[in-house]
Amino acid sequence: MDIIFHDSSKEFHIFNGQVSYIFKILKNQQLGQLYYGKVIRDRESFEHLLEMSARPMAVCAFEGDLTFSMEHIKQEYPSYGSGDMRYPAYEIVQKNGSTITDFQYQSHRIYQGKSKLEGLPATYVEDEQEAMTLEIVLKDSVIETELVLSYTIFKDYPVIARNAKFISHHADSLLLNRAMSVSVDLPDCDYEMIELTGAWARERSVKTRRLEHGVQSVYSMRGCSSSNYNPFLALKRPNTDEFSGEVYGFSLVYSGNFLAQVEVDTYDVSRITMGIHPNCFTWTLKQGESFQTPEVVMVYSDGGLNKMSQTYQKLYRTRLARGYWRDKARPILINNWEATYFKFNEEKILNIAQKAKELGIELFVLDDGWFGKRDDDTSSLGDWYPDTNKLPNGIQGLAEKINQMGLQFGLWFEPEMTNRDSDLYRAHPDWLLQTPERKMSMGRNQYVLDFSKSEVVEYIYHLMEKVLSEAPISYIKWDMNRCMSEVYSIGMPPEYQKEVAHRYILGVYRLYQMLNDRFPEILFESCASGGARFDPGLLYYAPQCWTSDDTDAVERLKIQYGTSFVYPVSSMGSHVSAVPNHQLFRTTPIQTRADVAYFGTFGYELDVAKLSKEEQESVIEQVKFMKKYRDIIQKGTFYRLLSPFEGNVTAWMVVSEDKKTALVGYYRVLQQVNVGYQRLKLQGLDEHLEYEVSIVNTKHYGDELMNTGLIVSDASSGQSMDFNHQKGDYQSRIYILNAITQ
Ligand code: DGJ
Repeated sequence: MDIIFHDSSKEFHIFNGQVSYIFKILKNQQLGQLYYGKVIRDRESFEHLLEMSARPMAVCAFEGDLTFSMEHIKQEYPSYGSGDMRYPAYEIVQKNGSTITDFQYQSHRIYQGKSKLEGLPATYVEDEQEAMTLEIVLKDSVIETELVLSYTIFKDYPVIARNAKFISHHADSLLLNRAMSVSVDLPDCDYEMIELTGAWARERSVKTRRLEHGVQSVYSMRGCSSSNYNPFLALKRPNTDEFSGEVYGFSLVYSGNFLAQVEVDTYDVSRITMGIHPNCFTWTLKQGESFQTPEVVMVYSDGGLNKMSQTYQKLYRTRLARGYWRDKARPILINNWEATYFKFNEEKILNIAQKAKELGIELFVLDDGWFGKRDDDTSSLGDWYPDTNKLPNGIQGLAEKINQMGLQFGLWFEPEMTNRDSDLYRAHPDWLLQTPERKMSMGRNQYVLDFSKSEVVEYIYHLMEKVLSEAPISYIKWDMNRCMSEVYSIGMPPEYQKEVAHRYILGVYRLYQMLNDRFPEILFESCASGGARFDPGLLYYAPQCWTSDDTDAVERLKIQYGTSFVYPVSSMGSHVSAVPNHQLFRTTPIQTRADVAYFGTFGYELDVAKLSKEEQESVIEQVKFMKKYRDIIQKGTFYRLLSPFEGNVTAWMVVSEDKKTALVGYYRVLQQVNVGYQRLKLQGLDEHLEYEVSIVNTKHYGDELMNTGLIVSDASSGQSMDFNHQKGDYQSRIYILNAITQ
């Protein structure tokens, strides 16, 4: 890993053993991009990659030089208005109304390690030798403003993390209309764009489309990163597949409104822009103030989509997620939501917990409905004190009883919301996001608190702190069940109003950080009506996230498969729930539900006391299985093998770090009859090791399993083996591979 500045050519080369990123200081002192891709040998100059020629109609920067047009130069952080006609990275409105700027190179600094981003989540290092950072300071002398562009390269990952920061020294206020985290110009457009799209209960479906001239984007203007589009996009070559070929990933470490856009100009240059969505944003910069953009983590892979995902998964698991729980096996939990919804009392809860304990479960989570007078979703959000009608001994009494059973206790909060019918609303009606003299829209009968105000964040912190310090609580589920509307902060000046959505997210991060600091051993699971805020930003504070409200095993195959494009298995909250499934009424075998949920944090969300004896025995076995293998599942290398978006069969696997153990999940949605023989090519094994394979009870070397494949034929292809009497639809198997060591 190194970052070299070539003084003679004024070029920067950021590289490690896998990736190179090269750019230069141009003749106008701005920055031009030269190369981003697989590592290449360093040289004094890559000037030839600028590819400048005189083009008709071009707007040029220097009289007498018809080649120097910003429209045709690939750039690092472009502006609009001085020749470049494409979408810019930023826009600053000045006192005289102009938006023209000219940020010129001033200085740079190269150092070992990586700096923190003030108030924002970001990847980090534990040892300075893990990464190197380049910070370039550019300055617009007319508005006396600095722009600092930061680039960090990690030693062991094909990763470059970028961010931008504006610092104003100007006497007049400046208005940032747009401040994206990155802009990258790739020299051609022979790519397909992958995005993770969806909606509530069908989050993060994998969609691929061919890049075309013009603009294509994914975005959120909902106030949260959203279930509709994840703050991620990837550009892959058309022939790239899961295991080979080039792909560039871009992932924004942020939980609010975002834009991820690719503009292909008519010269086939692809400009990727990513950051806070400019539609819902402005920021006033006064003298001495700065604005920090969130981080974008760029991954380059020449080993296909799996390699890109494995890079994100490992980096985010170990260098974005933090704290006590980061490397620990996650407790197997039981959550009462789908078992009771709002209708419970202490006795009912203790009953479920007692049975759960008998089955080997480790953590009981009390979901929505324990506070205020919350018997349905119309009241009490914000009143974070126990409902003693339901829980006569309060949370403290209940948690202690559950602890005495030998289970840990966890609790649900929705800190960012309130209902009109709540003590909080009655006391502070001006603490909501709302526009004066206009109607407030509501979602799920609730309103959004104005987290841009520090007094609101502090008030909620004190309520939560009280509950958490009085009772033995080791887990929090942090929910968020509606998008923002009428975004406006009462009592604040007009120029503040388009800052509110971003300030809100900063408030959320602040509350998380205060709670992380005060209760470092509490495990946080984020949630937003399921996975509407499954983003890298929240992983920094909460190492796991409820992946989706959809707990149906068949749908979960798609949701978890799509989520794995960026996020680690250890971050995916996944439960076995009751059948018929509460979202789509499908009945799947309890083993299939578990076989899917194993590839996540694993838990149950049903009334275990109502299960048949046979089902309870299955649960005992499942819990034992997960306790034995969770370390490998949550920390091993995850491979997608067969896509649920492409066929009837889904397969994935994890391989332990030493490659001596692997688990293969094989899922068939519909039973078929009289079909061909089937083999499944495995990945990531040691070709020289011989593995004993469960279920088929045969032995094979790694090279055979990876090249010939594991035979997975069954009765549907005329084989006599019927895999433990599996019959019909929605069947699954987990093959366990153990290397034979003398
Ligand atoms: C939405 C969550 O995703 C569910 O798991 C549950 O916690 C409900 N909210 C409770 O209101």
